[in-house]
Amino acid sequence: MIEPYELNSTLKKEIDHWVNKFPSGKQASAVIPALTLVQDQEGYLSEAAMNAVADYLEMPHIAVYEVATFYTMFRLEPSGKHQLEVCTNISCMLRGCKEIVDHIEYKLDIKPNQTSKNGLFTLRSVECLGSCGTAPVMKLGRDYIENLTVEKIDTLLRELEAKA
Ligand code: FES
Repeated sequence: MIEPYELNSTLKKEIDHWVNKFPSGKQASAVIPALTLVQDQEGYLSEAAMNAVADYLEMPHIAVYEVATFYTMFRLEPSGKHQLEVCTNISCMLRGCKEIVDHIEYKLDIKPNQTSKNGLFTLRSVECLGSCGTAPVMKLGRDYIENLTVEKIDTLLRELEAKA
């Protein structure tokens, strides 16, 4: 049995903002921003939340699952408060991302796709973030942390832990 989920009025208003950018009857085109908005609010996309988005956009449920499971930016399970998404593609690899990933693993005692014991951080290895000129790069929420060093990681983790 799936827990019921309803889009609140704020979410509906924000989704409508995106729906209105497309021609009448093409509301399904707003599925990516709609899923992003729900994920930002809930932390991840539950099956019930995806169904609610599908119903709101008048799409088959399966069509929303297809989108949500295709893009790595969508999370289908609860995870840490902060997503440390380290690019491990070629430019970042050449510029030392392995040292960055190793350092985060050591500091937080986790591996990629795991969450720290305090629930604050989930580490992810991701494909090119499109910022190869400032490699190595990590995405944190909507921000890019560029020209990463272990010192930058230490400062960032300390600041986020202090805010928790
Ligand atoms: S390879 Fe890392 S941003 Fe492109």
